[in-house]
Amino acid sequence: MPIVRLSAVSKTYPAPRRTSRPLTAVDNVTLDIDAGDIFGIIGYSGAGKSTLVRLINALEPVSAGTVEVAGTVISGMRERELRQVRLGIGMIFQQFNLFNSRTVAGNVDYPLQVAGVPAAERKVRVAEMLEFVGLADKASSYPDQLSGGQKQRVGIARALATSPRILLADEATSALDPETTLEVLALLKRVNEEFGITIVLITHEMEVIKSIAHRVAVMDSGRVIEQGTVFDVFSNPQTDAAKRFVSTVVKAVPEAHELAVLRQRHPGRIVTISFADGGVSQSAVFLGFAQHGVTFELVYGGVNDIQGRTFGHLTLALGGDDAAIDRALASVDSSLTVTEVA
Ligand SMILES: Nc1ncnc2c1ncn2[C@@H]1O[C@H](COP(=O)(O)OP(=O)(O)O)[C@@H](O)[C@H]1O
Ligand SMILES: [Mg+2]
Repeated sequence: MPIVRLSAVSKTYPAPRRTSRPLTAVDNVTLDIDAGDIFGIIGYSGAGKSTLVRLINALEPVSAGTVEVAGTVISGMRERELRQVRLGIGMIFQQFNLFNSRTVAGNVDYPLQVAGVPAAERKVRVAEMLEFVGLADKASSYPDQLSGGQKQRVGIARALATSPRILLADEATSALDPETTLEVLALLKRVNEEFGITIVLITHEMEVIKSIAHRVAVMDSGRVIEQGTVFDVFSNPQTDAAKRFVSTVVKAVPEAHELAVLRQRHPGRIVTISFADGGVSQSAVFLGFAQHGVTFELVYGGVNDIQGRTFGHLTLALGGDDAAIDRALASVDSSLTVTEVA
């Protein structure tokens, strides 16, 4: 059951000058985000990710199409009704956006105050949230006394204080170092698992998607050019943009310059064999080569684990006569992809 449903959504900004053209930041996007998922949206800077987020929480009106949240069409709603919708959506940001004049507890308290929650109830909820993010001892500190990771944990506590069903995270770890990023991602995973909150994870870093997302959509120039489970997109990306993102975390297929080096050392035939779990085993392939009298040397490759499932690409330099190699390659099970390197 989708909790967020975008149907042919576009957002066009008027031309900034008379001489320029209107800018389509989001271009005909159709996307379902299932309740309970961690849904990643990846794309380069300017791809339209943040604009898409602002359409989901109705901070801006769509130019075309419809946005549905929890079964209600929110595009075209009045401001008063939208305020209610936004209460069900929490948000965290790259720059944390904390109030520096308020204590940690004061920051988490703020959305509860706005929602008109009675003081006694608020106090309990703030303590509960700070406990959840591991900052109970920092309740009276001010944001500028905290590290980046701690600030983002306050951001998460604040976003969840009013018990939203959806959390939008826009580059929430992009200002953090790699170790702190892992801590914050682990916390987001707990948010998803313990509270069942749907997380929309916007990022330009594939590592972030790889570590916690279930599904991913790739955005380029305002469009969603590819989407699927993280395993499918990582093991078999279809578009050039997706391939480029995947190559940042999956070192598997040699690039042109690496191939040139391999070529110098291995003048014979070179193939890359791609496999995914569920398919035929590697040993069947190697046995087949041996049976056809073909020798092989593993010259490049890697096996990847994506959330408990494996896939990999192995590049082999083959030895033996051409006809034997042809027979050996023809015998490889069709569940594996064999690419002969030119
Ligand atoms: N309020 C706005 N007015 C005009 N252009 C905008 C506005 N917001 C974003 N854009 C433009 O829309 C495009 C997508 O921006 P954005 O959604 O911020 O991308 P991303 O978050 O993927 O980096 C960019 O070209 C950006 O300059
Ligand atoms: Mg952005």
